[in-house]
Amino acid sequence: MPERQTTTLVLFGASGDLAGRKVLPALQSALAGDEVRGPVRVVGVGRSELDDTSFRARLSSDERSARLADTAGWVRLDYFDKAAYSALRAVEDGASHVVFYLATPPDVFPAILGGLVEAGLNRRGDPSRRVVVEKPLGHDLESSRELNHQMQETFTEDQIYRIDHYLAKDTVQNVLALRFSNAIFEAIWNRNLVQSVQITAAEEEGIGSRAGYYDESGAVRDMVQNHVLQLLALVAMEPPTTFDARDIRKAKLELLRAVQPIDAQLAVRGQYLGYLDEQGVSRGSRRETYVAAMLSIENWRWDGVPFFIRTGKALRQRTTQVVIRFRDSPSLRLGGTRQRPIPTLLQIRIQPHEGITLRIGAKRPGTRFEMVPAGLDLEYSGLSGSKLPDAYEHVLTEVLSGVHTVFPSGDEIDRSWEIVGDVIRSWEAGGHPELYPIGSWGPEGADELIERLGRSRWLDPGDDLTANGSSARPAPRRL
Ligand code: BG6
Repeated sequence: MPERQTTTLVLFGASGDLAGRKVLPALQSALAGDEVRGPVRVVGVGRSELDDTSFRARLSSDERSARLADTAGWVRLDYFDKAAYSALRAVEDGASHVVFYLATPPDVFPAILGGLVEAGLNRRGDPSRRVVVEKPLGHDLESSRELNHQMQETFTEDQIYRIDHYLAKDTVQNVLALRFSNAIFEAIWNRNLVQSVQITAAEEEGIGSRAGYYDESGAVRDMVQNHVLQLLALVAMEPPTTFDARDIRKAKLELLRAVQPIDAQLAVRGQYLGYLDEQGVSRGSRRETYVAAMLSIENWRWDGVPFFIRTGKALRQRTTQVVIRFRDSPSLRLGGTRQRPIPTLLQIRIQPHEGITLRIGAKRPGTRFEMVPAGLDLEYSGLSGSKLPDAYEHVLTEVLSGVHTVFPSGDEIDRSWEIVGDVIRSWEAGGHPELYPIGSWGPEGADELIERLGRSRWLDPGDDLTANGSSARPAPRRL
């Protein structure tokens, strides 16, 4: 009989925003499912003046965390006081497993790791002791390596869970299913038939109240170094030997090693108008809230295929999608007129309106032979009929079950810093971002970039993939 699993989840920063908004609700939902073994008790740790009773009252006052309240406890701790961590030893009482979740600003990670060692709580090498950290994991390659080094001295790799919540989105996982459970796609997924790839991660919201963090980071660190590159890795990697975490990570790392560092000449930075007036933004800040870039992958499969990425805040609409543009067929000469081919596109909508559309050329019904764009559609929500699970719920389920599928390795994170390092340094050294209006699709330079380097244009979510059906000659700028 396997030992009954009883877990204590020690949540550092438990009175903070991340814990309240994401971690605790996701934990409650994860526990409502049937994948997590055994009971889980939450112990909040933080500087706030709380105790067991007031922390429980806090949890019960929010229906998203109320079911965690009964057994919860609170330990008040000054993160920088090494001796104080001995008070945490009690979390091991009656627990077969202990998860340390660091939902704190990253500047206290080193102190917490040091404190856990001091109290002997890390039990290096014991997979029943786990640590969970979330970005920003470093500010550049050097600080990322430093943090990685300290983490690996404190815990072994199989004890460490580095969150990238994009990997845990259901539709991101579905990229793997699409690619590797349908042989027809793998056969065309390469330089012979793909003309270009574009990845968009657009947000409607501005920076909100996060100026303190964002004005130091910017879009490249906030989104490209992690989410966008991870998504790109799943889209472009070689088939892993198995779908175990170890093999998936290996395949992603191989791919990231082939991705060339982003060249500032092939990138555009933008800043939304009004950013400088946001509370907490430094005067005259040149920080980018938008980035578009062309990436090259130098390997056998992708040589010569441009990968365009863009991400930004305060854009017209929230949307994350991947669009694969396949090579054109030769143009058709029909009834004396030359018909431009309709580009074949595969649009993978990560969010919202999750789904996949394959845009093809079809014959317009009628006696004339005329081509129109048409779509073959999959609405992802129609597959299950139920709501898509929250990414954090997936993350917590894996942490509590000891599975690493949706967690990038330290090497992937370091390599991603190498990819973005040049462009960050170059932008921080000088120049200004191009301004763009709130609610637009970003700076004009981004349109020029994709036209110039990809003979293409960005596909926006409002664009109807099957538009232009009335004309044999599609409007010149439409994909
Ligand atoms: C976070 C970034 O990692 O991802 C935020 O720090 C961003 O700036 C968020 O808003 C986007 O996540 P999602 O799941 O809303 O697309």
